[in-house]
Amino acid sequence: VLVITAPMWNFSVPAILKAWMDQVLSPGATFEISAQGVKGLHHIKKIILLTSSGGSYQKSDPKEHLLAEIKTAFGFVKIENVEAAWADGQNTFFFKDSKERKNRAIEEAKGLSDELYNT
Ligand SMILES: Cc1cc2nc3c(=O)[nH]c(=O)nc-3n(C[C@H](O)[C@H](O)[C@H](O)COP(=O)(O)O)c2cc1C
Repeated sequence: VLVITAPMWNFSVPAILKAWMDQVLSPGATFEISAQGVKGLHHIKKIILLTSSGGSYQKSDPKEHLLAEIKTAFGFVKIENVEAAWADGQNTFFFKDSKERKNRAIEEAKGLSDELYNT
């Protein structure tokens, strides 16, 4: 399991996480391409994403490039199971319930951690 902890910056992953992904998600490191297609060169089966954002994004929101980027980039190397605990709506001007949203995400994260512990 790979745990990624990062906030949303400019609708996507922070540049430093993207820089790390660019190093790690490279041919010969975590995948290889042959006539048979893409093959993962790793043992990672699952990603747990712990994230937060000022705004709130529905699944199909075209502005949402954070979870979409993680799913696309890691899906390419055959890590397709991504679970997220997301404290969205953290901008207190727009979201009066930002504290509740954060607490909900913390509970979700605990649930994911329990799930991990029990498998
Ligand atoms: C450089 C920067 C860019 C940000 N871009 C976004 C954004 O595009 N969408 C959004 O909802 N929140 C955005 N935020 C808000 C952060 O996601 C939010 O502050 C963070 O998730 C909450 O964690 P914190 O308590 O560490 O600030 C941005 C924050 C910073 C500093």
